[in-house]
Amino acid sequence: MKILFLNGPNLNLLGQREPEIYGRTTLADIEAKVRSHATELQVAVEFRQSNQEGELVDWIQQAKGQFEVIVLNAAAYTHTSVALRDAIAATGVPTIEIHLSNIHAREEFRHKSLIAPVCRGQILGFGANSYVLAVNAAIGLDQR
Ligand code: DQA
Repeated sequence: MKILFLNGPNLNLLGQREPEIYGRTTLADIEAKVRSHATELQVAVEFRQSNQEGELVDWIQQAKGQFEVIVLNAAAYTHTSVALRDAIAATGVPTIEIHLSNIHAREEFRHKSLIAPVCRGQILGFGANSYVLAVNAAIGLDQR
């Protein structure tokens, strides 16, 4: 089984970006944690980040037939992007929404996720561990 991890805007700055909210772990550290967990569970992962909405849309479209599950931290696009939502709905690849922070405990504009209705579920608020938990959730989805 292959899982595609997609990361949206500003997540390339993890480690230095608002560490009181997102912690000191870099995206490379998170990728290493995910890889080691995935290897133990014998699943393959691919990890990508983009600051461009259109590139994320392209990757979601291209995932069809290549990956069993997408794990998506759409970052700020979570709250704004009809295009990402439509891409998930159009391609039909089971998608799990994740966040490092608990978006419901933050500013009101973060409480709404435009992608939630087309995702299978959400994992949020566990910092880097949200990503590791998503590997387990993805395997569970694939075995349903
Ligand atoms: C985030 C939460 C979003 O509201 C924010 O725009 C991000 C990161 C998270 O992982 O907690 O960039 O997706």
